[in-house]
Amino acid sequence: MNAPTQQGSAVSAFLADQETKSYLRVLTCGSVDDGKSTLIGRLLYDTKLLFEDQLASLRTDTKKYGTTGEDEFDLALLVDGLQAEREQGITIDVAYRFFSTDKRKFTIADTPGHEQYTRNMVTGASNSDLAIILIDARKGVLTQTRRHSFIASLIGIKHVVLAINKIDLVDHSQSRFDEIVADYKSFADDFGFKTLQPIPMSARYGDNVIERSKHTPWYEGPCLLDYLENIQVGTTREQGPFRMPVQWVNRPNLDFRGFSGTIASGQIAPGDKLVVAKTGKASAVKEIVTADGNLAQAGPGEAVTITLEDEIDISRGDMLVAADDRPEVSDQIAAHLVWMAEEELLPGRAYLMKSGTRTVTATVTELKHKIGINNFRKLAAKTLDLNEVAFCNLSLSEPVAFDPYEDIHETGSFILIDRFTNATVAAGMISFGLRRATNIHVQAMDVNKKIRSELNQQRACALWFTGLSGSGKSTVANILEKKLHALGRHTYVLDGDNVRHGLNRDLGFTDADRVENIRRVGETTKLFVDAGLIVLVSFISPFRSERQMARDLLETGEFLEVFVETPIEVCAERDPKGLYKKAMAGEIKNFTGIDSPYEFPENPEIRIDTTERTAEELADDILDHLKAGGYIG
Ligand code: ADX
Repeated sequence: MNAPTQQGSAVSAFLADQETKSYLRVLTCGSVDDGKSTLIGRLLYDTKLLFEDQLASLRTDTKKYGTTGEDEFDLALLVDGLQAEREQGITIDVAYRFFSTDKRKFTIADTPGHEQYTRNMVTGASNSDLAIILIDARKGVLTQTRRHSFIASLIGIKHVVLAINKIDLVDHSQSRFDEIVADYKSFADDFGFKTLQPIPMSARYGDNVIERSKHTPWYEGPCLLDYLENIQVGTTREQGPFRMPVQWVNRPNLDFRGFSGTIASGQIAPGDKLVVAKTGKASAVKEIVTADGNLAQAGPGEAVTITLEDEIDISRGDMLVAADDRPEVSDQIAAHLVWMAEEELLPGRAYLMKSGTRTVTATVTELKHKIGINNFRKLAAKTLDLNEVAFCNLSLSEPVAFDPYEDIHETGSFILIDRFTNATVAAGMISFGLRRATNIHVQAMDVNKKIRSELNQQRACALWFTGLSGSGKSTVANILEKKLHALGRHTYVLDGDNVRHGLNRDLGFTDADRVENIRRVGETTKLFVDAGLIVLVSFISPFRSERQMARDLLETGEFLEVFVETPIEVCAERDPKGLYKKAMAGEIKNFTGIDSPYEFPENPEIRIDTTERTAEELADDILDHLKAGGYIG
């Protein structure tokens, strides 16, 4: 009769037990074929966490895809989740597995070993407590091992297990084991790991995974599970200062106004004093509201809605923080970047920066150094390629609140996103804020753009001519300026060839230099428009991103993009400077349209075709456009 009650109490005892068990977040990383999936499968299998139906499907899969022969299960198949991945024979995303033993609960983040998937490691690892770095005993330390260890240290992992796997394939050799450990320590000593435990292992046969192996009598350390169950990693997120990025302002009716988000760090209780990081506006917590009722206290990882005692201005993207322990606020920061895109990083280019719930634009203003993966030396660099890591300064479109990554991972990390493709191109870890130009305020001048424009009897603007070399940009700009001049208008022409003789004479034609070229010209254009002039800007300006940047520097209606749409065959045929001939002969490198890209404008204000009409006629067309738009009378 009372069986259900007994069962019920067993379940609640189990649940209570689960809640009090400590929690370890483990990251696994290794090269393809190091046996990572097999190791995770082994942990799950030997801790009896596989259920019968999974075993049945594993039997079928072993026959179909396995590499171990039919009698043995291929444990890797258990982990390599999706069918598509199995068929390719690789794992392609971060996968999290949960399991628990009598002593502890675990999550294991499994990231693939392919080079191009460094990003998965960065995303999967930033909240891990410990990394298991797998090494194939036959191969020893590989570039991948160095890279993964370096990134693990960069993202703040303090505890490492060096799993020297496939020890059976080197006859369980102690000297081979010692050799690999020495090799590893020779570079990882500077990585700031607090613990480093090497374990000789055979994931396939289970040696030293759950039980100590009789094949390695010379090894006196713990087996893997034992080590994972007992290591003390210390967790700081609960003890840290309170931080909660506001995800949304919850206002269902006029009587309720709450701020919803996930707590990034620290504990909170009603009565605690909080401020909005950026504005310093202060209040105290009234209630902590959740779907399951109000809480007396909440901590990291919990999604809550906080109501405050006072009405203060808070919006999405703000950060609520402990009043007595505030984050830094700055629009200039120094950070490590892990570049994760095929396209190179271009300093000077504006990327979207997402940090917590806030998105701003960010530009790398100085690439201080990149870090060579072979010897971890600091190297000079102008750009970054896929998987490269660098330390750099970034300038943001507005101040953000942050903590150094070392103190609080959640509020010290960010990603960079390409504005046009929306792809995530980098992960960043903030080191500190830069005290740049903070004492310089914008000086309000009594004579301003409006007054200057009025004196000139025109509406200041920029006509931004973009198109291939030889398309006719400068020719049309020149005629147009003469016509404007004749009408008594105040103008200036910024021309690529001329500016490159002065202001930009240090720049060449790499993508990075072109970005800087246009950034400077964009800023110069802004000044000349501010001077009340009609500015004719004639640069190839091949990248959408930088044309957008120049547009964003001006006010609405001030930037008129003029796409000089002359086909490349015509430009090459005209070849006014003989450059196409040289480029095609390979004498000039990075020539636009030949071996350097041109991204055509999608919505230019004006399109002109120099093959159909004369430069004179085209200049008149633009003049009409200026009149119709009220730029000139
Ligand atoms: S941009 O791409 O950075 O906007 P910009 O307009 O300043 O280029 O300069 C282009 C001019 O430089 C061309 O009109 C041409 O005369 C000259 N030039 C020399 N080398 C190159 C090259 N590799 N690619 C394009 N233009 C070049």
